[in-house]
Amino acid sequence: MRPVLLLPFLIGFTGLHAESPAKTVIELKAFYAANCIKCHGTDGSATADGKKLGGRDFTDAAKNAKQTDAEMAKTIRKGIFFGTVMPAFKDRLSDEDALLLVKEIVRKAEKGKVIAP
Ligand code: HEC
Repeated sequence: MRPVLLLPFLIGFTGLHAESPAKTVIELKAFYAANCIKCHGTDGSATADGKKLGGRDFTDAAKNAKQTDAEMAKTIRKGIFFGTVMPAFKDRLSDEDALLLVKEIVRKAEKGKVIAP
């Protein structure tokens, strides 16, 4: 087979396996609003439900200092206790997305400041 005939095939093949594009901070804020406020609260300080589950207050920097960004991102993708305590989001957030979410949303959460796009 001539190499030139292989080209469209290769492009199609890699296209199929391409990762979905990385999410922007705005998309991640919308993602947070849709998937996380139930437990972590609109501002990240944990709702009544979240508190019952021991939900972490993201606005409390001292409490969150013990964990690295990477550890938090890993928890977001893996969930907690097989997804029973906190759901796993690995099918919907890449490593990169989860890390950006931690840096731009979790770490910057402020009491009373609603997280929304
Ligand atoms: C069903 C409730 C629930 C939902 C929904 C939920 N979480 Fe959690 N999350 C928890 C609980 C409970 C903890 C444990 C808090 C602790 O250890 O003090 C937690 C912990 C965390 C932590 C801290 C990491 C750690 O190891 O303590 C991060 C970061 C986090 N969640 C992010 C998210 C994000 C982002 C979303 C949405 C994409 C989300 N959570 C959705 C309940 C939830």
